Amino acid sequence: MPATDAQRWNERYRSGQHAGFDQPRAFLVEQSVWLPTHGLALDVAMGLGANAGWLLAHGLRVIGVDISEVAVRQALARHPGLQAVIADLTVFTLPANSFDVIVNFYYLQRDLWPQLVQALRPGGVLICETLTQAVRQVRPEMSPEFLLSPGELRQGFPGLEVQVYREAWIEAGCDSPRPVASLVATKR
Ligand SMILES: C[S@@+](CC[C@H](N)C(=O)[O-])C[C@H]1O[C@@H](n2cnc3c(N)ncnc32)[C@H](O)[C@@H]1O
Repeated sequence: MPATDAQRWNERYRSGQHAGFDQPRAFLVEQSVWLPTHGLALDVAMGLGANAGWLLAHGLRVIGVDISEVAVRQALARHPGLQAVIADLTVFTLPANSFDVIVNFYYLQRDLWPQLVQALRPGGVLICETLTQAVRQVRPEMSPEFLLSPGELRQGFPGLEVQVYREAWIEAGCDSPRPVASLVATKR
């Protein structure tokens, strides 16, 4: 029987294969000017909760969601005050108009994007970053399904106003630079 996503990610976290996941992402920290210092944030596929912990320290209440119970357990131990849900986002419904901030780093589920727009409150902020297809230049085995095409993230949230967008090769806590698209968008 093939391993489920939860099993694969649990194994990865148990064996310590999560370089770069234990620090807040640089783009989130760089774009903190867009963030309120109170309210409710959602960290989509939070992993070890480094971004969630940083948002807590910024003054927000934070709910993190992840499919990996191993990651969620470690995130809760690292970040007192964090609230967490172990859930498969491919079959999960986010509550509408509920979050002042949503962050979605290095987890690409395109059919979740309309839900992210709905889940933001008016005035809310979405911050996202994930790998683009250019990564196949250095990791040809990676499936395009989980990689952004050029301009895709910028076009992906028609209900939001794009405030910051970039595509660039960055140091992402891996052995070599990685190509990413990064977005800050707000809801009127
Ligand atoms: C590359 S890690 C990113 C973690 C974190 N967002 C970060 O930036 O370091 C991807 C995360 O997505 C989670 N994940 C994978 N499939 C998922 C699913 N269907 N539902 C919820 N979480 C999922 C994994 O457990 C893993 O923690």
